[in-house]
Amino acid sequence: VSTELDGRMRFCTRCPELVATRTQVVVGDRPAGARLLVIGEAPGAQEDVVGRPFVGRSGQLLDALLEEVGHPRHQVAVINTVKCRPPANRVPTSQETATCRDWTVALIDSVDPRVTVTLGLSATRWMVKTPTLSAVRGKALEVDGRTVLPTYHPAAALRGGPNGEAMVRLREDLALAVSLL
Ligand code: URA
Repeated sequence: VSTELDGRMRFCTRCPELVATRTQVVVGDRPAGARLLVIGEAPGAQEDVVGRPFVGRSGQLLDALLEEVGHPRHQVAVINTVKCRPPANRVPTSQETATCRDWTVALIDSVDPRVTVTLGLSATRWMVKTPTLSAVRGKALEVDGRTVLPTYHPAAALRGGPNGEAMVRLREDLALAVSLL
């Protein structure tokens, strides 16, 4: 859905370094009626050009796994904790993530998902206070009245290969998330 919120986000200029190098703000995908929300870290090069989240290699893997677990991407809301590409894909600073926080909260509220999956440590830490991903990975947590399921980032699954731990767990965790819808 395209809303007034999207319109305001597209003109955001709060993070000077990101504003200077971004092509556009990547608000995220919010299909009407989405019950599953997936949260990643920040747009990469391809997302910055296309204007949608998770359209690069990680996105292709995410799409394939969602299809496999029977809940295709077009039904899934997808956002990032930071909406503008950090230069050279550096990790967003804690200040940038904090500055983008009220946009993120507004997006989550507008989706009002049944289940939220956080991909990787940085998205997970956005929602859950945890020292490591492994401490919470694969566990359905209750956070501010929402069900949150942390898992590996697809980039980690790609690095580990098709039979690596991250791929196996990411697939399992997405299946679990869908079973909770
Ligand atoms: N693409 C995104 O939109 N977010 C990520 O975290 C990685 C790739």
